[in-house]
Amino acid sequence: MVTIRPEQPSDTPAIERLLDTAFEPERHGRPSYRLREGVPRIDTLCFVAENDGRVIGVVRFWPIEVGGAPALLLGPIAVHPELARRGIGSRLVRKGLNAAKAAGWRVVVAVGVQAYLGRFGFVPAKPRGLRFPVPVDEARFLVLELVPGALSTAGGRIGPARPAAKAAVS
Ligand SMILES: CC(C)(COP(=O)(O)OP(=O)(O)OC[C@H]1O[C@@H](n2cnc3c(N)ncnc32)[C@H](O)[C@@H]1OP(=O)(O)O)[C@@H](O)C(=O)NCCC(=O)NCCS
Repeated sequence: MVTIRPEQPSDTPAIERLLDTAFEPERHGRPSYRLREGVPRIDTLCFVAENDGRVIGVVRFWPIEVGGAPALLLGPIAVHPELARRGIGSRLVRKGLNAAKAAGWRVVVAVGVQAYLGRFGFVPAKPRGLRFPVPVDEARFLVLELVPGALSTAGGRIGPARPAAKAAVS
């Protein structure tokens, strides 16, 4: 049976192996990694999927800023290919987004597949006035308002979280 539970520090090696399997080896060069450099992820929003004691899925969130306001970066989201298309990815994303909403976060940015993330409400971010700090495939640059209307006050440039912003919402 597949269960979803909070990520623990001891999961790190298994998660790294999973991410190496799910993504290409040069994943650390992806645009979203630039926003994560030197910034700790938000542990309370990171979850793993476990099957018979083995970590087979993960969703993580990092703090960023959108137009100077605290926001979230979703990702990576990954499920082991052997267990794809069983709803595990959707359970992980929904678990993370629900926890984020409950914690008061208002805006979530992602660099990913719209055909997948669109089912959770993600829409293209550039038409909403957002600017990514490094070159990014516009079709993959996505945003979700957890609070309707949140972007009308938060639009603008995306940047890494500053310590003060990280402390503002936790
Ligand atoms: C994307 C991923 C997390 C989905 O996990 P999953 O557990 O298979 O997802 P679910 O079972 O919840 O959803 C499956 C649905 O998503 C669709 N889907 C999965 N990956 C997709 C993709 N890259 N593009 C479009 N649709 C995709 C499937 O076709 C399926 O559609 P259906 O419900 O109409 O049959 C997983 O395939 C994965 O780890 N991929 C490699 C890493 C990756 O690209 N991550 C970032 C994605 S934004």
